[in-house]
Amino acid sequence: MTWIRACEAAAVAEGETAVVERPPAAPVAVFNVDGDFYATDDTCTHDRYSLADGYIDDDVVECPLHMAKFCIRTGKALSLPATTDLTPYPVKVEGGVVYVDL
Ligand code: FES
Repeated sequence: MTWIRACEAAAVAEGETAVVERPPAAPVAVFNVDGDFYATDDTCTHDRYSLADGYIDDDVVECPLHMAKFCIRTGKALSLPATTDLTPYPVKVEGGVVYVDL
């Protein structure tokens, strides 16, 4: 496992998102859903748009570009035009810091 420090837990309010850059790989999005943290690819699988800029409703994020929806907990693509799931990543919170296993 390769845990990387993603962000301060307090910096991501419920219903909000933080982006973890990891060049040259694509960025990862950290979501706060009702106080629990989840991480998936940040880039929409339809046409490469940042989901951190999307609309969050409970555990679903909607891409702002063409409105594809994904489950934040699993990465599953829930609606067209996206047909490919996001990769979900394990998350842990220790000492007020969110870590993501990349
Ligand atoms: S880029 Fe996300 S739905 Fe098209």
